[in-house]
Amino acid sequence: MHERLCGSYRLKNGCLIFNDHLLSLVTSGPILPFKLSDIGEGIMEVTVKEWYVKEGDKVSQFDSICEVQSDKASVTITSRYDGVIKKLYYEVDATALVGTPLVDIETEPGPEVVHEEDVVETPAMSNDEHTHQEIKGHKTQATPAVRRLAMENNIKLSEVVGTGRDGRILKEDILNFLAKQTGAILPPTPFHEIQPPPPAASAPSSASMPKMKPTPSVQLPVVSRPVFTGKDITEPLKGFHKAMVKTMTAALKIPHFGYKDEVDLTRLVQLRKELKGLSEARGVKLSYMPFFIKLIRLKGCLFGLLGDVLICLLLLHQASHNIGLAMDTSQGLLVPNVKNVQLLSVFEIAVELNRMQTLGATGQLGTADLTGGTFTLSNIGSIGGTYAKPVILPPEVAIGALGKIQVLPRFNSRDEVVKAHVMNVSWSADHRIIDGATMARFSNLWRDYLENPASMVLDLK
Ligand code: COA
Repeated sequence: MHERLCGSYRLKNGCLIFNDHLLSLVTSGPILPFKLSDIGEGIMEVTVKEWYVKEGDKVSQFDSICEVQSDKASVTITSRYDGVIKKLYYEVDATALVGTPLVDIETEPGPEVVHEEDVVETPAMSNDEHTHQEIKGHKTQATPAVRRLAMENNIKLSEVVGTGRDGRILKEDILNFLAKQTGAILPPTPFHEIQPPPPAASAPSSASMPKMKPTPSVQLPVVSRPVFTGKDITEPLKGFHKAMVKTMTAALKIPHFGYKDEVDLTRLVQLRKELKGLSEARGVKLSYMPFFIKLIRLKGCLFGLLGDVLICLLLLHQASHNIGLAMDTSQGLLVPNVKNVQLLSVFEIAVELNRMQTLGATGQLGTADLTGGTFTLSNIGSIGGTYAKPVILPPEVAIGALGKIQVLPRFNSRDEVVKAHVMNVSWSADHRIIDGATMARFSNLWRDYLENPASMVLDLK
């Protein structure tokens, strides 16, 4: 909430109304004490937040003098006169009392009285930064920029017919009014007036204080905006979406820690290429996921990552290792799990994965597939991206996100730059159960298997 005020004013219906008869300027003599007028609403004092002038500065009407703040509003006090600042009465952050002088201004001879409708600026409480003003029982609404334009052209707002919402006077209305008076032809493109931000704070008595006058406004052409007629719609969350709200809200209570690494899949890429045809000959699509899942099982169980679930301070070591995989389905994100991975070969995992993908694509994944998971992998890289920050699916204690496999230059053991298939993995673990060292050791072993897939043959059961 911020206003610019010149002279005296009062608050009415959340708007600031200026009144000549409340003027607290002493208009006799060459040096006039410019007093802080009664703001109303029982406000007796304000804090001086910033001075825009220093002693010796020449000011014109409507130049910013200072900014003051009450507990209800921030107000820019502007000069009523052309003249020279002779004295600042307060330091920044000092408290100024209503009715006491803010500055002394040495006025130029014959100061002009400014009429009330010419000086009203921004309101105290306005949602859309438009002002309201009462003049002889007639209420006008206009932005400070429009009021200034009217004032600069000696146009009384009460004489202008506003074509904006609720009769608000627009800049075009002023320009049209002016055109009628002068016979000028208006340009077809409307202009928005952009006021530069106020200058930075400075101390009042400092000799180095720069003279801060409002910079001239900038006029920029704007293209006429299309009228948007869309409406907001409220929709209750249902089904899997509703469940996701519950699960992910519960997940936020878990203290997650993250661990990320890079895996060179060059050999696995080659191995899959060799096995893909074989698998397809048996009617099964073989992606990388069955390898990732099987290798998680091979080593993850050593670290309590796979079967452990945390339920009310009880750590349940599950005998079955059911590896869930985040799946982008026709119903949104679902996490079916491959049951008893410890009993399945890579090919058998691929069969399960194919079955679940077919069900997911047709919205037919059932409760049996969607419950009982003990660890989750999210292959977001099949869509894109390199790193992720996966969220643990409670009551599980860890999750891994796989990035996109990229072909990148890497050094081999002979320090030669070679073409490598690189994938990033991002783990999240429940730090109440799994510590960083455990996660790092597990990740290293999983990575070693993937980088040397032949070695898994030794351990496969
Ligand atoms: N980088 C590069 N290519 C990848 C890849 C990766 N990380 N993951 C998969 N691919 C390739 C596959 O090898 C396959 O290639 P191919 O046609 O040459 O065989 C192709 O992309 C399609 O694979 P896809 O059908 O997606 O199978 P998948 O077994 O790799 O992945 C799902 C299965 C269910 C995980 C995947 O389809 C999916 O839904 N991923 C999104 C997961 C998600 O939304 N996570 C966010 C959770 S908040």
